[in-house]
Amino acid sequence: MHKIFVHPLPVRIWHWINAFGFITMIASGIQIRYIGLIDVISFKTAVDMHNFVGFVLIANFFVWFLFYLFSDKIRVYLPELRPMKHFIASFRQMKYYGYGIFKGQTNPHQVSVYHKFNALQSMTYQIVMLLLVPIQCVTGVLLWDVERFQSAITLTGGLRVVDTVHVLIFIFFAGFIFIHPYLASLGHTWSAHFKAMITGYEEVED
Ligand code: HEM
Repeated sequence: MHKIFVHPLPVRIWHWINAFGFITMIASGIQIRYIGLIDVISFKTAVDMHNFVGFVLIANFFVWFLFYLFSDKIRVYLPELRPMKHFIASFRQMKYYGYGIFKGQTNPHQVSVYHKFNALQSMTYQIVMLLLVPIQCVTGVLLWDVERFQSAITLTGGLRVVDTVHVLIFIFFAGFIFIHPYLASLGHTWSAHFKAMITGYEEVED
């Protein structure tokens, strides 16, 4: 085994603020939606918490975005443009997660500095970070002050559309917050990828 540096400091700071922020957003979001059924904190406290952490997460998103935009590390996010190659790598990775890992086979993806994500991670993270998180931020800001953003809300199809999109993406993230750490625990030891997201260094086979 040897160590390679894969997660620069801004990415690690962004990631852990983001992770704890998302847990807070999901919990306060559930409280806002199900007031009367769940009464852990007051409606006002839940809304204030949701708004405050929401703006922290928007600012934090720009830390991630600007870091990658102005760094050569953006190469880890460049999509595979040959669909067949991407499809085969994704299928191999799914086969490993669903079968090979239980048979003690080795991970078909070898981590390197500019290729730290496997095909499934690469596609998921692109969709999450470049589509779902930005849409969730924009719909969240619109819902934060519906009077001020009345014309923008009307332009996007009305309050019901904005709210539905926000709730659907919320449901996605409520599932993601369990599936993503589970998949992240499938390194050569259960804690290997977590340690890497703290120290920056990933251990790879020689
Ligand atoms: C309990 C919460 C979370 C834990 C324990 C966790 C854990 C991890 C770990 C260990 C990694 C590095 C290994 C890997 O790529 O699989 C990682 C990467 C990543 N996570 Fe999370 N995560 C959490 C929440 C989130 C959330 C809420 C998001 C997005 C909304 C997210 C997005 C990402 C992204 C985009 C990466 C790749 C970062 C990069 O290197 O550019 N994570 N996570």
